[in-house]
Amino acid sequence: MEMEELLPLIDTILIIISGTAVITGFVLIKKKMVDFHKYAMLTATVFAGLFLIVYVTRYLLYGSKLFVGEGWILGVYVAILASHVILSIAIIPLVLITLYRAFTRQFARHRAIARYTVPIWLYVVVTGWIIYLMLYHLPVENL
Ligand code: HEM
Repeated sequence: MEMEELLPLIDTILIIISGTAVITGFVLIKKKMVDFHKYAMLTATVFAGLFLIVYVTRYLLYGSKLFVGEGWILGVYVAILASHVILSIAIIPLVLITLYRAFTRQFARHRAIARYTVPIWLYVVVTGWIIYLMLYHLPVENL
């Protein structure tokens, strides 16, 4: 496999690990397992950070890949991509504020913002995965 295809695959794996850790962290806090919640969410943050490093590296090396589909499928792709980009930028300060409030023990405020952080994080993960599949594995010629 070429480097140009390997990097997006690595990225998709990192983002999926990050999303899985977020879901795990959410389940753990519902079970009141605070320490494990903390470790799961920090793991999720580290993998999201690794994702960002690989993403920026790939972008600097190869630029952005254009979607080859046309018509309605292009419309679907652009809508998913636009929402993904906007929310993936918004998630960065959200995660930092969520962590800050946890580490400064403002847990009620932590919980209040985390209500937005978790679903937005998961949306970014799922749409990132869909974008990867559409860009690299969708047989658009047949649509
Ligand atoms: C970005 C990382 C994190 C996210 C997305 C996150 C997410 C959440 C969510 C969604 C809740 C509320 C669960 C519910 O509705 O019952 C929660 C609660 C909580 N989190 Fe986190 N968390 C993160 C990091 C941390 C860290 C690092 C710590 C520990 C230092 C921590 C400690 C807690 C505690 C103690 C609660 C319970 C608060 C309460 O019920 O009053 N969290 N977190």
